[in-house]
Amino acid sequence: AAGQWDFYCKLHPGMRGVLTVEGTGGGVEPERPTFEQPLVVPRTERGADIRLVMRRSLVRARPHGPRTSMWTYDGSYPGPTIRRRGGQGTEVTIVNRLPRGAGSMTTHLHGDHHASQHDGQPTTQLIRRGASRTYDYPLTVDGRAAPGSFFWYHDHRMDHTARNNWRGLQGMFIVTDPPRDGLQLPRGRRDVPLMISERSFRADNQLTDPFASGSRMVGHHGAMAWVGPHAPPDDATIGDTVLVNGREAPYLTVSATRHRLRLLNSSPFSSYNIALSDGRPFLQIGTGSGFLPRAVVRTHVLLGPAQRADVLVDFAGATGKRIVLESDPASPGTTGDDARATAIMEFRVGSPARDASRLPARLPSPELVSPVPRKVSKSWTFGLSGDRRSGEHGGHGGHGTFWSINGKAFDPGRIDHRAGLGTVERWRFRNTSDVTHYVHIHAEQWRTLLRDGRIPPPWEQGLEDTWRLEPGEVVEVAARFTDYTGPFMIHCHMLDHEDHGMMARFDVVR
Ligand code: C2O
Ligand code: CU
Repeated sequence: AAGQWDFYCKLHPGMRGVLTVEGTGGGVEPERPTFEQPLVVPRTERGADIRLVMRRSLVRARPHGPRTSMWTYDGSYPGPTIRRRGGQGTEVTIVNRLPRGAGSMTTHLHGDHHASQHDGQPTTQLIRRGASRTYDYPLTVDGRAAPGSFFWYHDHRMDHTARNNWRGLQGMFIVTDPPRDGLQLPRGRRDVPLMISERSFRADNQLTDPFASGSRMVGHHGAMAWVGPHAPPDDATIGDTVLVNGREAPYLTVSATRHRLRLLNSSPFSSYNIALSDGRPFLQIGTGSGFLPRAVVRTHVLLGPAQRADVLVDFAGATGKRIVLESDPASPGTTGDDARATAIMEFRVGSPARDASRLPARLPSPELVSPVPRKVSKSWTFGLSGDRRSGEHGGHGGHGTFWSINGKAFDPGRIDHRAGLGTVERWRFRNTSDVTHYVHIHAEQWRTLLRDGRIPPPWEQGLEDTWRLEPGEVVEVAARFTDYTGPFMIHCHMLDHEDHGMMARFDVVR
């Protein structure tokens, strides 16, 4: 499966074709892989006090040959899935026993609302080798239980987030639905979290090192730039093999009933336009940040890095069929033609079975902030800065560019915005570069007000923490800052962009 895959770029039509990935053997990828290994659902942790040891482990990622050495949370990739009910305070202790050379780490619970000192921030809350840190997640917002959500935890170490995630420091976190919600959604084995994440392997099944050819930082914070082959705008950690829950091309045997799939794209860089091969639709019920006000029928769900979708699929009538979950960028009428074209996994549909699940008429969706300010409180412009040729910004005679927010590279010591505790703010994002970005904000969940001046599509009408921002696009969002003061981050979740400057700090202040 190594070597080449179809590649599409909306902005550079000339780039449509086959991309050869460096470091892998030739050969054209077959139309569809053979799905040889069963899907593995990660072990679940349900306690109030969870301890996860970061360590190197051998992981069965590919169907044949040696296992893959990865950096893991507690011995598996993905790490254990944590399942806790909203309002149940949860302490997670992370111990760093990674090999020498891995360095200090920090773990961020993506999507969750928690104190700044429990945020796993890029520079100030590092876990050194041999040390540990306990994160406190109350799973409440403004004193109320957080609604059913699908979060994930991952490393967030400044400058090394792409590498550390590539090596395996990723896991899922489900905030389960309230017990008396009256919802009869598929549960147990019919509620399946799926972490989709791509990697490249060498012939001996070990991960390639896309960071070896690297990029070098020149200058200092605020005026820094990166030079080298893996420097902006050519920094893209992409893999040729898609893993689901850590395994290449797995299959899952399902009964011909409804299933709930919690889809997460934890790839460092790529996006997927997710569809089922027989055209069967998804009923999207949530964003990963709680339920949508109304369920939406979709044949394609576009997920960029860090984005999630909570969907139902009905396999009724498909007994005996094999249905492929795939990424189909070329589908007409959908955006996302910059997504990868690839098969992801296979569902093998067995016999019908008793199905007590029901499609809810109403979803217990979280309240959206209202009213919202008419004036924009803060604008964030996502772009490419520096100069490729003149070397002015490189400072060392090299040329250097960096991904920027408001023209600046990330500086953890610089406060880029102050937001008042208890106030509602309206933020505007604009993309001035010629590639799509995925904007993520820590601390709060946001209401999407406008996408390019228009009411957002129905699947964006719940709460969100990560938005697709195409070149030239403008998105406006609003949230109230509750409970916690201190520094938080806003950044692009394409990890190479994040590592190469596209991050900023805002402080919630009294
Ligand atoms: Cu998923 Cu700032 O991170
Ligand atoms: Cu980006």
